[in-house]
Amino acid sequence: VKLLNSTFLLENYLMNKRAIITSALPYANGEIHLGHVASTYLPADVTTRFLKQNGVEAYYVCASDDFGTPILIQSEKQGKTPADYVAHWNKRDYEDFSAFNIDFDYFYNTSSSENIAFVQDVFTKLNDAGHIYQKEIIQFYCNNDKKFLPDRYVTGICPHCKAKDQYSDLCESCGRVPEEIIDPKCSLCGTPPTKEKTTHYFFKLKNFADSLSKWLEENEHLQKDVKKYVQNWIKSGLIDWDITRDISWGVPVPLDGAEGKVFYGWFDNHLAYISTALKFLNDKGIDGKEFWNSADIYHFIGKDIVYHHFLFLPAMRLGINSEYKLPNYIPTRGHLTLEGKKLSKSRNWYIGLKQFLGYYPADYLRYYLISINPYSQDDLNFDWDDFTTRINSELIGNFGNFVNRALGFTKKVFDGKIPEIESFDEHDMEAEQKIKNLATDVGQLMEQNHIDRALKKIMEFSSFYNQYFQHKEPWKKGPGTVNCVFLSVNAVRTLAIAISSFMPESAQKIWNQLGLNGKVNDNMWGEMSELGISSGHDLGEASPLFVRVDADDVTKYKKQLGPSEK
Ligand code: 2FM
Ligand code: ZN
Repeated sequence: VKLLNSTFLLENYLMNKRAIITSALPYANGEIHLGHVASTYLPADVTTRFLKQNGVEAYYVCASDDFGTPILIQSEKQGKTPADYVAHWNKRDYEDFSAFNIDFDYFYNTSSSENIAFVQDVFTKLNDAGHIYQKEIIQFYCNNDKKFLPDRYVTGICPHCKAKDQYSDLCESCGRVPEEIIDPKCSLCGTPPTKEKTTHYFFKLKNFADSLSKWLEENEHLQKDVKKYVQNWIKSGLIDWDITRDISWGVPVPLDGAEGKVFYGWFDNHLAYISTALKFLNDKGIDGKEFWNSADIYHFIGKDIVYHHFLFLPAMRLGINSEYKLPNYIPTRGHLTLEGKKLSKSRNWYIGLKQFLGYYPADYLRYYLISINPYSQDDLNFDWDDFTTRINSELIGNFGNFVNRALGFTKKVFDGKIPEIESFDEHDMEAEQKIKNLATDVGQLMEQNHIDRALKKIMEFSSFYNQYFQHKEPWKKGPGTVNCVFLSVNAVRTLAIAISSFMPESAQKIWNQLGLNGKVNDNMWGEMSELGISSGHDLGEASPLFVRVDADDVTKYKKQLGPSEK
């Protein structure tokens, strides 16, 4: 690990040179779409890359979320074993993420032998500590479909907020987990289910009201608004959590007499954050547990799973005496809508990641999704026209244009060799100062998770340089031309380092065009504030970075959305 460059010291991160980053584990049950990447994977990837650029030993780990009733039923429908079914999606998800340059250090799965052993061990410890009990419960059963109906297979009215048509395991309207749904219906056939008796295991979430409240209060990195409503949930009373299911696909409950019972997916999935990190670190010869407990822990999530990450997850860690530390950051973002409407697979109102990457390069989507992505729970909207405008006018018209102008002009007029400079005038000095300030200006926003504002700052820098170039009129070859070329080429280098977490492919292309060796991200964040290119340096080959988005193509892509009219 290189040391931080002295021109830029990130105060918070200086405290900790280690980090583990996770993002909500994708169900191994269908393809990754734009909604997934916008709220979790992309912000987490950008953050990890940024931490690495700052000399933090950061690891981004993820896994497919393999267990649960919906997956079991899907695999049966396709005549596959659940293990084969999830293996298919695990591979496909990883390929799609990779094509989008989501750079996991490790991608594993919740059905791994390591996770199964880890989950069983955590359960045993919670049980020994008195946080688990058994209770006979009534389970829904559909006489028409002849099956038990856990979770998603029952809909009804939320007992908390009275919203209609909510799943029995999560109310999408108020975000809470209903204790018992009102007016239940089988979601397969609509028949009111009958009730059968069975014994389930429960986790005493109630035991943790005070310790959770204290943890929320003391952790200054959690978003204030999220904290506030979680505190309100705690005040209005926590409910013990049913953690087992009577199905065949899941982590077996490791107790005599519990044969045929497995853990509910939400009991085991977040434990894979830890078991996956341990597997990866231990395989590298690092003491995983020691690393986990000395690192900053980030869990990136979407707002629909706040309940699970702010209550269940920390309570379970508290229940085993914080043997593995609780998260420092749980960056929570809103959902992506598409052309102003909620995403829906059944209505074909979504865009698969793979499909999109067939239309445009990864960096176009990374640029757009970061620009519209505030650090808040507000929803963000993918709008094809807005996408077209932002790519054509901001990414290409401003950024791409400046890079091209600066490098193209130097190639044409100076044969690609950076000229000797003269003494700087006041405009040159202002422009030089911009280079010196960028690492701090952008870094401060990044530290606060404002990736959208950070990217905007970088675009403002590019826009400043466009104006500077325009104002200097180097094509007239008057006095000041050499300084303009020298500073502009250096500004391009600064930009390449600055955007490398956001748009890694474009950053590397620029680096090569600059005639610089190695990888752009071998450079530390603070190095963007140096004038790293000296007079006499030879540029590489210059070529346009981007191709404009064509309005007719976009019209075509828009038409592919929604049910086909017949
Ligand atoms: O909501 C989901 O898509 C879940 N698969 C997220 C799991 S995150 C967990 F592992 F904490
Ligand atoms: Zn509700």
